[in-house]
Amino acid sequence: MTEDEGPELDDHQYTVAGLRSYEAVYGRDFVSPGGRRTTAELLETLDWTPSRHVLDVGFGLGGAAFMMATQYQANVLGVDLSHNMAVEAQRRCADYGLADLVELVHGDILNHEFTDEFDFVHSREVFLHIHDKAQLFSTLHRLLKPGGLLLFTDYCRGPGEPSQAFDDYVREFGYDLRTVDDIGDLLDEAGFTGISADDQTEQFIGIHRRELDELDATGLDQADKDELRAGWLAKIDRAQQGEQRWGWFRATR
Ligand SMILES: C[S@@+](CC[C@H](N)C(=O)[O-])C[C@H]1O[C@@H](n2cnc3c(N)ncnc32)[C@H](O)[C@@H]1O
Repeated sequence: MTEDEGPELDDHQYTVAGLRSYEAVYGRDFVSPGGRRTTAELLETLDWTPSRHVLDVGFGLGGAAFMMATQYQANVLGVDLSHNMAVEAQRRCADYGLADLVELVHGDILNHEFTDEFDFVHSREVFLHIHDKAQLFSTLHRLLKPGGLLLFTDYCRGPGEPSQAFDDYVREFGYDLRTVDDIGDLLDEAGFTGISADDQTEQFIGIHRRELDELDATGLDQADKDELRAGWLAKIDRAQQGEQRWGWFRATR
C-alpha cells in the first residue's frame, strides 16, 4: 500500500459508514479484533515507564494511542494512511484532551519523514495492507532505539495452497497475507532479535464468536448487522479451515 492508495481505503473498506459499522462491533475507538480488551491485554505485557516514546502505525480511530497515553503516560506519534480515520481520530484526540501526549498524522508509514527514534512501535491489523514487507520491517527497525520493541498483531494465512475462495477474499480487500512463520523470518532478515511469532488463531475464533453474540445489541440497522454477521461467520469459517490465521509478534532492535 502506498500513499496513493490512501484514497482507495477511504472509498472502499474505510468509508465513514464502514467505520461506523466496524466500530459498533469492535467497540469505541477500535477497528481490530477484540478492540479495547485485546489491546489492553497486549499493552500490559510491556515494560512501561512514564514518557515512553511510542510510534503507533495505522492508529485507525486512535484507541490504542489514547490508551497508551492515558494509562501509561506515553508520548505517542501515530501515522495512518486513511484520511477518514485520521480526521476522526484527530477530532477525538482533541475532545479527550490528549493533544499534549498524542500526535496523529495522516501519512504512509513507508514514506513518512520521521525526526525521532522510538522506544516502542505498536501496530494492530495494519501490515496486512502493506505489500512491501521487507521495506516495512527495515523501516521499523531503523525507527526504533537500540533495545526498542516492536509489538504487533496481524491477519496471516495458512501454509497450504489457498482455495479459490480464500484467494478471492484476499484480492477483494487488496491484502498481502503471509504465514506466521514467514513474518518471523522477515523480522529476522530485517535485523530484529528476540523474535516471537505466535499463532493465536484459536483466540481469533473465540473473539469473533463473542463479537457475533454482541452484534444484536449494537445500534446498527438490520442490513448492516446482516452484512457484518456474514463477514464474521466467513472469517470464523476460514480460520477453522486453517486458511486464515492470526499472529501476535514481538521483536527487539
Ligand atoms: C484494520 S485498521 C486498524 C486500526 C487500528 N490499528 C486499530 O487497531 O483499531 C487498519 C489501519 O491501517 C491503516 N494503514 C494501512 N496502510 C497503511 C500505511 N501504509 N501506513 C499507515 N497506515 C496504514 C489504515 O488506514 C487503517 O486505519
